[in-house]
Amino acid sequence: MSSDYIFFNSPSFIGDEIKNIKKLSKLKHFSINGYFTKKCSDWLIKNIKCKEALLVHSCTAALEMCAILLNIKKEDEVIIPSYTFVSTANAFAMRGGRPVFVDIDPVTCNIDPSNIEQAITKKTKAIVVVHYAGVSCNMDPIVAIAKKYKLYIIEDAAQAILSSYKGRPLGSIGDLATISFHETKNVHCGEGGALIINNPKFIKRAKIIRDKGTNRDLFNQNMVKKYTWVDYGSSYGLSEINAAFLYEQLKQAKKITRKRLAIFKLYHKLLENLEIKKLIKRPTIPTYAKANGHMYYILVKNNKRDKLIKYLQQKKIQTVFHYIPLHSSPFGKLKATTKSTMRNTNMISNNLLRLPMHLKLNKKSIIRCTNELLNFFGN
Ligand SMILES: Cc1ncc(COP(=O)(O)O)c(C=O)c1O
Repeated sequence: MSSDYIFFNSPSFIGDEIKNIKKLSKLKHFSINGYFTKKCSDWLIKNIKCKEALLVHSCTAALEMCAILLNIKKEDEVIIPSYTFVSTANAFAMRGGRPVFVDIDPVTCNIDPSNIEQAITKKTKAIVVVHYAGVSCNMDPIVAIAKKYKLYIIEDAAQAILSSYKGRPLGSIGDLATISFHETKNVHCGEGGALIINNPKFIKRAKIIRDKGTNRDLFNQNMVKKYTWVDYGSSYGLSEINAAFLYEQLKQAKKITRKRLAIFKLYHKLLENLEIKKLIKRPTIPTYAKANGHMYYILVKNNKRDKLIKYLQQKKIQTVFHYIPLHSSPFGKLKATTKSTMRNTNMISNNLLRLPMHLKLNKKSIIRCTNELLNFFGN
């Protein structure tokens, strides 16, 4: 790839990740639940203001743990936006549950609270919200519905580290929340995730589920003489190698966020004219939300999105579309129910374009991207 190619994502080291990993030979603990896992958990508890934070190997693993913790069984229903990553739904389908898809709000690409109540039945167990692009869902009406019908709330905060809703960190509002540290996220360790617990009744069992369904955690604390099989579970933990890497990224998470927000702001300013001319729509951050610069996307009008991706590719700029709606996927059609028109989900999926967003972007490369966008539209 030539040196002037602008990648969509470019995961990087931020500081002392390697130094941390090298410390492990002294600590002599490379598997799960060591020194760096504790450091990362403490950071998450402090910054998300949650009761517990368990490191796991992916956000997908954390979502699967949520389904086990909620005792999801055959025909239990879980309300989910169709515009999301497959894991949000698959975690529940894998336990026999039925995802019930509802449409999103076209302004935020987040679940539209006004679609939720009509999708609730006697079988509904939970509402899973996704804070798309690290921008908060409108949580007050969702919390009110969950209270009224006694449903659990799970926040899929895969993209939402250090974002907030009315001053409350995302991940701190639902009974449970999940975070991703995949290389595409603001803070990463290659592959990784966290299960965030706000409802204390889930803490003890979550530790068992993370550790293959055993009470090894109690054994490690000398609280039982031997550890044994006590519940469902799997090998969901994160190795200390990844946790050592992650801790450095977490320590610098606020700096990373500031940098990404500056990139977001510059794109937003440089693309204003295209929105005024109604050729694109730029993202809107609602007043209740404080975002983390996870993503900069535009909505391309007049069915030109795919043409634009090809044009930019020729100009050595990599841009990507995002989710294919789950309600129209082959497995979604088989395993899920669709409870609204999906007009907005389909529109967003067809028109949304994600622009390059990573720490190696500089002002010059951002201007090159936006100039090529202007050229494409003849401006
Ligand atoms: C909304 C959402 N949920 C879950 C996931 C899965 O995350 P992971 O790759 O850490 O399993 C992703 C991945 O991008 C995501 O965007």
